[in-house]
Amino acid sequence: MKTYAIVLAAGLGTRMKSELPKCAIPLLEKPMIEYIVDNLEKSYVDEIICVVGYKSDDIEKILGNRVRYIKQEKQIGTANAVLQCLNYLEDGKSIILPGDVPLVDSDIINNIINYNENVTIGTMNLDNPFGYGRIVRSSDNIIKITEEKDSSKKELLIKEVNTGILCLNNNLLKRYIPLIDNNNSKSEYYITDIIGLLSSKYKISSYFIKDSYKVIGVNDLFSLSELECILSKKIKQKHILNGVTLINKDSIVISYDTVIESNVIIYPNVVILGKTLIRKNSVIEPNSLIRNSIIHENVVVNSSVINDSIINKNSTIGPFSNIKLNSEIGENNRIGNYVEIKNSKTSSNTNAAHLSYIGDATIGANVNFGCGSITVNYDGKIKSKTIIKDNVFIGCNSNLIAPIEISSNSFIAAGTTVTNDVASGDLVIGRVKQQNKKGYLIK
Ligand code: UD1
Ligand code: CA
Repeated sequence: MKTYAIVLAAGLGTRMKSELPKCAIPLLEKPMIEYIVDNLEKSYVDEIICVVGYKSDDIEKILGNRVRYIKQEKQIGTANAVLQCLNYLEDGKSIILPGDVPLVDSDIINNIINYNENVTIGTMNLDNPFGYGRIVRSSDNIIKITEEKDSSKKELLIKEVNTGILCLNNNLLKRYIPLIDNNNSKSEYYITDIIGLLSSKYKISSYFIKDSYKVIGVNDLFSLSELECILSKKIKQKHILNGVTLINKDSIVISYDTVIESNVIIYPNVVILGKTLIRKNSVIEPNSLIRNSIIHENVVVNSSVINDSIINKNSTIGPFSNIKLNSEIGENNRIGNYVEIKNSKTSSNTNAAHLSYIGDATIGANVNFGCGSITVNYDGKIKSKTIIKDNVFIGCNSNLIAPIEISSNSFIAAGTTVTNDVASGDLVIGRVKQQNKKGYLIK
């Protein structure tokens, strides 16, 4: 007996007014569908099927081989989307989820799967149920779900609504889905009509979800932005209670997948995105953006941008550093004002404190990059590597023309353009000799 999840993600999402198919649209930079699949992978579900249609490539790029894709050629309704999957289902049950309900968690998924052998609908109460299917009950059963546009005035007053999450025995799915017609105001095949067909013979169970924000559906950019506020608040509350100080928390953005250890202090206007880890005792000072990066213990970052990089412990970054593309800063480094570091690694106790560019470089320990010194990694056609070994002093305003290797314990005098490799222990000076023309300006 297998448990399947069928995620419906074929729709265009006209109301989102986006180039992307709706379920690929990001919430705090992470596509909605990815939240759902992450939680399905943590649940009892054995196999995840994703129904795709409109711009399916975009969805497939996000989920890769984590799910089985089934194509719905024409988006003529949620029942038609499920119909495409029936041939793939073996004995067992299936939980059907809309791909636009990003915050459903694995507890809700598991509870709905376990609730009943035949049919369970996830429901919630909303003060403003507009747009949702209403749950119509008799004294002892759910009779049907009625969609907004097909409801009577009395039905529109019902506050208990369909979350779109529905778990059914596969035998029932296979028997009843093909019976659903499109006799409704939108001429669409509604999955919700299966309840009306089943209710005369079967007990329809409902699983009530109290935290309604977890099952809110996103139909336009406004509801996405409202959900972002709720999610943001929950994420920050969790970090604060875990011992993270957020100064002026309303100005700070932290993604769902960021992990922050205790005793970290985060100042106003900091944005932390993607899968980022910030280890204990670090301080992120104002106006910093950190994405998909690891900040180890005791690091200070000030007004800087760090993307896809690692900063090792006891280092200071900024103000105004830009560290990116798989860079790794060693322990106890000082990377300072207006320094860009791209696809480069440094070892411990290395400094580039002012106005440097370091690209495609591997740099040893105890190296000093003087103010304004740069790696010249691009000749207009190809990018080349710079290797600098331990204990090297690079004087101010030096150009290191790559490819180049500078051996340990060497010294580059200020203003030198280095074009040839440097041997260990050498002093390199390459600049026009100064001439002082005595009294030249005195008439
Ligand atoms: C749906 C439910 C409604 C419920 C609400 C909860 C139906 C008929 N209505 O309404 O009862 O209260 O969700 O959020 O199911 N999709 C396809 N193929 C299609 C049509 C839709 O894959 O042919 C996908 C969409 O991409 C979307 C999901 O199904 O992810 C739900 O479709 P949507 O149009 O958003 O349904 P709602 O009107 O919100
Ligand atoms: Ca929806």
